[in-house]
Amino acid sequence: MTINEKLENLRIHYKKNSLDFGDCDPSPIVQFEKWFDESLKSECDEPNAFILSTICNSRPRGRVVLLKGINEGKFIFYSNYLSAKGHEIEKSVFVSMTFLWLPLQRQVRIEGRATKVESVLSDDYFQKRPRGNQIGAIASPQSQRVSSRQELEELFKKADEKLLSSEVLPRPLHWGGYSIEPDYLEFWQGRESRMHDRIIYEKSDDKWNLSRLAP
Ligand SMILES: Cc1cc2nc3c(=O)[nH]c(=O)nc-3n(C[C@H](O)[C@H](O)[C@H](O)COP(=O)(O)O)c2cc1C
Repeated sequence: MTINEKLENLRIHYKKNSLDFGDCDPSPIVQFEKWFDESLKSECDEPNAFILSTICNSRPRGRVVLLKGINEGKFIFYSNYLSAKGHEIEKSVFVSMTFLWLPLQRQVRIEGRATKVESVLSDDYFQKRPRGNQIGAIASPQSQRVSSRQELEELFKKADEKLLSSEVLPRPLHWGGYSIEPDYLEFWQGRESRMHDRIIYEKSDDKWNLSRLAP
């Protein structure tokens, strides 16, 4: 079978669930938490993983990161502030998030503005990470070109040795959290015959308005 035949034959029918206005909480954050809890109970691996899309010179760029908190209605993830995404957010604060929870045949899309969180929040979270992850964050110049795996290992080893006597590792200033304040969310539930349910929340005058979109 050719790759195209294999691709053409890949087809599943979505019929596990449905979504209507009556199922949706007036608050999209409550609705997100409800679906997130259901994804935790399902067979989803890493349900907190989402595709973060940013803009780089008018071109979209996406990569996976992990949701690590929801604070006052804002979605929080952590990264390297000097990474490609860090520079892109610096230039354009508008980002989108896409969650895919396939076992539930669900997708959630969120759009909003990303800003750095207060340093105390990043400090707190940094201290909760395993030591190896902390050293990795200190040592790795995320998104920069490196000559080899060996160069990376040496960077890690150097940082590890330097900090050997420190029980508590200080958060490097180049690493921390971003919070995304949403103004648009879409909850997508797969349905039969590709007649999926799509309910969107749009913010206007501090109120959330719900609408249904065609699949
Ligand atoms: C499952 C998964 C989780 C990830 N979580 C994070 C994360 O929370 N933060 C992060 O900076 N990168 C995370 N990454 C790595 C990013 O996808 C990406 O490679 C990295 O952030 C560099 O992206 P950039 O060069 O576009 O800035 C994760 C990757 C995967 C596959």
